[in-house]
Amino acid sequence: MRTSEYLGARGTGLSRREFLAATGSAGALGLAGCTAPSGNTETQSQPVATEHSSPDLEKWLVEVPRPGVIEPVGEKDGTPYYEVEMREVEQKIHPNLPPTTVWGYDGQYPGPTIEARQGEPVQVRWKNKLPDEHLLPVDETIHSSKIPYDSTGVRVVTHLHGGNIEHQSDGKPTAWFTKDFEQTGPKFENKDYYYVNDQPPATLWYHDHSLGITRLNVYAGLAGLYLLRNDREESLGLPSGEYEIPLVLQDRSFNDDGSLYYPTARSGTNSDSSKPTPSIVPQFFGDTSVVNGKAWPRLSVEPRKYRFRILNGSNCRYYNLKLFEYDESTETTETSGPPFTLIGNDGGLLPAPAPIEDRLEIGTGKRADVVVDFSDYAGQTLLVHNDARAPYRGPDINTGNQQPLPDVMLLDVASDGVDDRSQVPSTLANVPEIPVDSVDKERYLPMTMSSDDYGRPLHLLGSDAESSPHKLYDPVTEEPALNDTEIWSFANLTGMSHPMHMHLVHFQMLGRQPYSEYDPEAEMIDVEALEPPAPEETGWNDVINVNPGEVTHVIVYFGEFEGLFNDQIGWYMWHCHMLEHEDHDMMRPFRVLPKSDDDGGS
Ligand code: C2O
Ligand code: CU
Repeated sequence: MRTSEYLGARGTGLSRREFLAATGSAGALGLAGCTAPSGNTETQSQPVATEHSSPDLEKWLVEVPRPGVIEPVGEKDGTPYYEVEMREVEQKIHPNLPPTTVWGYDGQYPGPTIEARQGEPVQVRWKNKLPDEHLLPVDETIHSSKIPYDSTGVRVVTHLHGGNIEHQSDGKPTAWFTKDFEQTGPKFENKDYYYVNDQPPATLWYHDHSLGITRLNVYAGLAGLYLLRNDREESLGLPSGEYEIPLVLQDRSFNDDGSLYYPTARSGTNSDSSKPTPSIVPQFFGDTSVVNGKAWPRLSVEPRKYRFRILNGSNCRYYNLKLFEYDESTETTETSGPPFTLIGNDGGLLPAPAPIEDRLEIGTGKRADVVVDFSDYAGQTLLVHNDARAPYRGPDINTGNQQPLPDVMLLDVASDGVDDRSQVPSTLANVPEIPVDSVDKERYLPMTMSSDDYGRPLHLLGSDAESSPHKLYDPVTEEPALNDTEIWSFANLTGMSHPMHMHLVHFQMLGRQPYSEYDPEAEMIDVEALEPPAPEETGWNDVINVNPGEVTHVIVYFGEFEGLFNDQIGWYMWHCHMLEHEDHDMMRPFRVLPKSDDDGGS
């Protein structure tokens, strides 16, 4: 059990109070009040939608494909060695849509799955073979002093999301490189990335992270899964082989010619000459459900248990999933289908399976490892239904800008099948709790609204070290030392939910509370008084949902913990995983410092 309180928050309290003073009282919260210091005339309640509609595609015509597994090309220094080329290709996303030009790892979208084993490092050379021109509209005002927009070549860098790995191989935004490494960014260090794979088996994923264009590169198709396994997990008897299926959920929009549609401006601002063209948009929500690279697909299953590795690889959209029995002729759902049994989150298996009573929430960038038992549904068709609003939660969600995406995919359960010998054991993994009484520091991290030089809304991250929010290039403020335990308290003072992500580490969520009830000055957090984590938020995670008006507290250990994970020092990133936010300054560095010998372990 966690102790309910802890002593020892050593943060600088004064600036928190200054911050509260600057934003109105903690009680008033001022979701709207916490805005730009100067002239932000666009509020969040203005339309964020674009008027674009994708071609009306008939649903449920194609089977969900499997991304396939990529094999190493050989060995390097005794480890399997992969070469993965990023290429532009044409891909059929829907039978009634002309082929779509996408960017794919190994020439496919989504990229092939890398299968790795705990304790067995691998090396990957990510190769940029993309054309010189970007596929999508690039806004050259984003980090314009740091990015050589006038030179040719598309910048890429691959981040292993969820990887507990050396900083040189993390794939940080400024480690970008152009075709054949002709040009490289300031933090580029090595062509071959070394993934030590010294962490619990988990559903990781790789995706592009290039400075200022991550949203475009991922939207173009640069994402894939990285599954880490070990013998112990394999001995559990979970559904495996053809009964273990990756599902990469993404929303996309298309033009009539089949090309990907991505907005060049916020709706209604096209004629506004004060805004750059093309311009980054505050959020992007596509109107077409794409699963493993196919629009509105269906999946044939047998009446037995399946394991699904679900990734939310959308730019901004959350999913809240539930299965329903579906009548295709009337397009109606009446009865609930089988429940999801959650067995793992971002960073690995849960201690025990958790039945999801109602909806399975998967925030942007998150993974859900689930088992579904179809044995009572032989011969049925099921709908994977999503009721997450877009934007997800907050005062701005009911302003007429909702872009829901209720229908995700269908499941066709065969009328008969063979024996199911798989099982979901009641004990899955050892997940030791990070003890609250060992905390070295608590960080109060306010998330606020501002505006950029063009009056466009800007979501920013702050630090308890200073009262004003920071941009990406402000000096680093989060510098834990190796083997420190910290609480990161994300306080959302904006009008919508944000999925907050940390590189390198997996944290454990302590709980959430209304901002009005949070006193960052207090010496202790009363963990027992917090709203406890939902099943999706238990165990090891690297993305956590932070709702507006709330503080979400996570506890994180920087280094090997009870034989799990490994020690790394150096520079990493933490950010909102809504890609439009991340590109537009809702991202900050953190640096893990070497262990200080005289720290005495406060
Ligand atoms: Cu999935 Cu910094 O990213
Ligand atoms: Cu965000």
